[in-house]
Amino acid sequence: MSTHSITLTINGRRYAGTAESRHTLSDFLRVEAGYTGVHVGCEHGVCGACTVIVDGKAVRSCLMLAVQADGAAVTTAEGLAAPDGTLHPVQQALRDEHALQCGFCTPGVLMTLAALTANDAKPDEEALTAALSGHICRCTGYQGLRRAARRLAGAKP
Ligand code: FES
Ligand code: FES
Repeated sequence: MSTHSITLTINGRRYAGTAESRHTLSDFLRVEAGYTGVHVGCEHGVCGACTVIVDGKAVRSCLMLAVQADGAAVTTAEGLAAPDGTLHPVQQALRDEHALQCGFCTPGVLMTLAALTANDAKPDEEALTAALSGHICRCTGYQGLRRAARRLAGAKP
């Protein structure tokens, strides 16, 4: 198995490491780089738990090879809050709407909504529904997530 040297910017910091050809970005971020806020559920692109932002787009990191992310800017849930601890608006919305239970699905949802609102400050219902439809919450807390998403969109939760 060949090993490759790759360099990413993770949450604003340059990170140089090594990855085997078969290693996924999710494994690289968790095991090599220590960003365990990247959660891994299904490992085949269905649950959304592993979602991170790669060069501005929400990506399922279990479906991307680490070597494909060489040179990219990656944001994980650890990179959302400001350095002084101020929550990102997406984090605040989930908190305000009590939109998490066990929290397993939460990082992936946060990253999808963060990417969505970064590209469209006022996403409409259709866009919100499409974004959340890619996430499975085993605790079935969908109403809270929906309220949080609508709060972000400036709509009445
Ligand atoms: S772990 Fe990647 S989509 Fe489920
Ligand atoms: S809060 Fe438990 S899986 Fe979503």
